[in-house]
Amino acid sequence: MSDSPELEVIADDHYEMLSDATRMKAYQQAIERVVQPGDVVIDLGTGMGILALMAARAGARRVYAIEARDSIHIAQRVAAHNGYGGVIAFLHGNSQATNLPERADVLISETLGSFGFDENTVEHVNDIRERLLKPDARLLPRRLKTWIVPVHSPGAATYQQFWKNIAGFDFSVAREQSAEVIGVAKVKVDEFIGSPALLTDIDLADGKSPQIGRLLHFIGERDEEVHGLAGWFEAELCDDLILSTHPQAPATHWQQAYLALTEPLPVRAGDKIEVMLKSRPQGWERDDAQIEWDCRIVG
Ligand SMILES: C[S@@+](CC[C@H](N)C(=O)[O-])C[C@H]1O[C@@H](n2cnc3c(N)ncnc32)[C@H](O)[C@@H]1O
Repeated sequence: MSDSPELEVIADDHYEMLSDATRMKAYQQAIERVVQPGDVVIDLGTGMGILALMAARAGARRVYAIEARDSIHIAQRVAAHNGYGGVIAFLHGNSQATNLPERADVLISETLGSFGFDENTVEHVNDIRERLLKPDARLLPRRLKTWIVPVHSPGAATYQQFWKNIAGFDFSVAREQSAEVIGVAKVKVDEFIGSPALLTDIDLADGKSPQIGRLLHFIGERDEEVHGLAGWFEAELCDDLILSTHPQAPATHWQQAYLALTEPLPVRAGDKIEVMLKSRPQGWERDDAQIEWDCRIVG
């Protein structure tokens, strides 16, 4: 037993991420390639400190590990226990309210949601790039692509139906609310109702707006009901190293993003399906974005 039950809960929260072998291997390899001995590194959203430790082990002179949540207290203890307490400086708070005594050579961030950008990554990275990085700094990841496709997913739809009758009570209000937030599901390629479309392609080095507003069109490939939209990301960590959460890529704890429709949408082969998706940050102190979506037949 730990001396603090709260810290134990935090450790449990991070278990999924730390035991995600695909994620861990990709970041480990990228950090070893990108971080050079003597570098000053920022780890945005250090969690329990794993990526800061990898950067320190790769030879960083100084690592500034920024974290808004209390996991930073564990991270600090872990770093000291592993002999890196002198290299890693821990800063408790939101990155946008954090200042550093020097500019950094490298920004490492793993603030990726199942839909890539949905934890406000772009806004936080933009702020750090402008205020806290050297002009020629290396970003890891440096590019983020997201993809979307309408899906026929009876499993996820069963979940939506579940709320209509729980021991004879109608819990639809809870279902409507659950339909407004991005879910997570294990989507299969044979559930796609059209060809996936590129939703965003964000070069994190170029200061693009964190707002997204897109209308995308898909051609229905068979007669089927659409239950939701599936999304995934490809994070380019460095040359030749892409971390992908496509349904056919090696499994990760992110699985795929799932945006449920309030009601199933019947589609016939050849129908033109229009998808609208808007996303905007909810303020600098938040690490989630507000996302709206809609899906309809337009021809
Ligand atoms: C997905 S977790 C990753 C944790 C750790 N880097 C790892 O790879 O295991 C993201 C962490 O970033 C933190 N975070 C997100 N945005 C932040 C910000 N702008 N400032 C400080 N912490 C942030 C969250 O609190 C969360 O602990």
